[in-house]
Amino acid sequence: MEFSVKSGSPEKQRTACIVVGVYEPRRLSGVAEQLDKVSEGFISNLLRRGDLEGKSGQMLLLHNVPNVLSERVLLVGCGKERELDERQYKQIIEKTIQTLNDTGSMEAVCFLSELNVKGRDTYWKVRQAIEAAQSSIYAFNHLKTRKDEPRRPLRKLVFNVPSRRELPLGEKAVAHGMAVAKGMNLCRDVANMPPNICTPTYLAEQCSELAERYDSLSFSAVTEQEMEELGMNAYLAVGRGSANESVLSLLHYNGGGDQAPIVLVGKGLTFDSGGLSIKPAANMDEMKYDMGGAASVLGVMQAIAELQLPINVIGALAGCENMPDGRSYRPGDILTTMSGQTVEVLNTDAEGRLVLCDTLTYVERFEPEAVIDIATLTGACVVALGNHASGLMSTHNPLASELLTAAEQSGDRIWRLPLWEEYQTALESPFADMNHLGGREAGAITAGCFLSRFTKKYNWAHLDIAGTAWQSGAKKGATGRPVPLLTQFMINRTAATEQV
Ligand code: BES
Ligand code: MN
Ligand code: ZN
Repeated sequence: MEFSVKSGSPEKQRTACIVVGVYEPRRLSGVAEQLDKVSEGFISNLLRRGDLEGKSGQMLLLHNVPNVLSERVLLVGCGKERELDERQYKQIIEKTIQTLNDTGSMEAVCFLSELNVKGRDTYWKVRQAIEAAQSSIYAFNHLKTRKDEPRRPLRKLVFNVPSRRELPLGEKAVAHGMAVAKGMNLCRDVANMPPNICTPTYLAEQCSELAERYDSLSFSAVTEQEMEELGMNAYLAVGRGSANESVLSLLHYNGGGDQAPIVLVGKGLTFDSGGLSIKPAANMDEMKYDMGGAASVLGVMQAIAELQLPINVIGALAGCENMPDGRSYRPGDILTTMSGQTVEVLNTDAEGRLVLCDTLTYVERFEPEAVIDIATLTGACVVALGNHASGLMSTHNPLASELLTAAEQSGDRIWRLPLWEEYQTALESPFADMNHLGGREAGAITAGCFLSRFTKKYNWAHLDIAGTAWQSGAKKGATGRPVPLLTQFMINRTAATEQV
């Protein structure tokens, strides 16, 4: 879909549909009032007759409104004016997009970006509207032989801003919103791909294709043979039972000269059966999403390349498959990691941290400014935070607060969990330098503690996205998170460097 901004009066829009808000109970928004005036009370008459109460998400489509140039007017209920918050705003936008798709308007001018959303400006409203709109029309149809698409889908959506002065801000919001939405779509497409197609090699191909599309991106890969030479034995152990080769894919984005890079490390388990510590059969299909971290790294790399941000970023997609087999690693095995530290394996289903620990050591060579890993790491994180927030853990407070700020701005929420020294004792092993897991308690944190032992050489943060990377049930599918969060983090980073 195409998006743009303009500033004009509602009655003068020569378009298929204009979208205008009505508050509850039957109260016209500023724009609706303007239409009401030129149409000599046409809209207030309708409301008086009880056609629309203004409850959040209610829709009323009007044709031939007097003295209005647009073919249709879509009145959208926005709830009580004082209660209009971020969540409601996004829901209203989504509902509006669905309705426009159903009514056959192929283009529309939307005045909902002029609504009053507590504490949010035009930039936020336009950007969130674009992300919500793109998100709501997303469908994964690639593998269906019959695709049911709307006959006359919405192609072009123009957001109106209150004054010409706000146009530059609106245009920036369009650029950012489109880049984020495009990154989310790529993330979702790759994550939704089934595990018989989406293997570690497939992830590498996606990276290489992306690098071909953007001059600022280049691709390289670390193969099993090179991992062997580097001593990445924990990573290799996890992939040993799989017929699909492990591949660590690297995407280098160069936009910031010789600045130290920010490194994003994504867990890329293209399927996690649990290995010999095999998972129960119910919902095991969802473990194709265990590469959601890697998919989000791919999405972020595309977004920053699209925005041509003046920074350096390296994306590392740790591709691997965890399967039971005669060659599989076992509970009881002791592995020597690339860092030299030895690790006793207690459960082969705690594979993510093993793949990540060697990748975290590998990326030391880039002398990074900061490293953020993104992983569908623990069921415990889902128990703790549910599906609304990703877990944040970090040993560097400034980096943690940068991420928290970016989450607040982008609406892609995170919640910090502590990595206190006290939790580290859970990892003591009688036979090796450490266990790779703690007990049942604080499972998300002890996983973070394990990773922290491989990140001493740089500033590091860890995002556990086990609860946020995909949805189960009727709306099963990848969410595209945390692409908005990380893209926002990168945008903020460039604002910081521009000041110096
Ligand atoms: N990929 C899973 C974590 C996961 C489980 C994410 C369910 C989303 C939903 C991870 O590899 C795993 O299996 N973790 C184990 C660790 C345990 C054995 C210490 C878990 O969380 O149960
Ligand atoms: Mn697992
Ligand atoms: Zn896993």
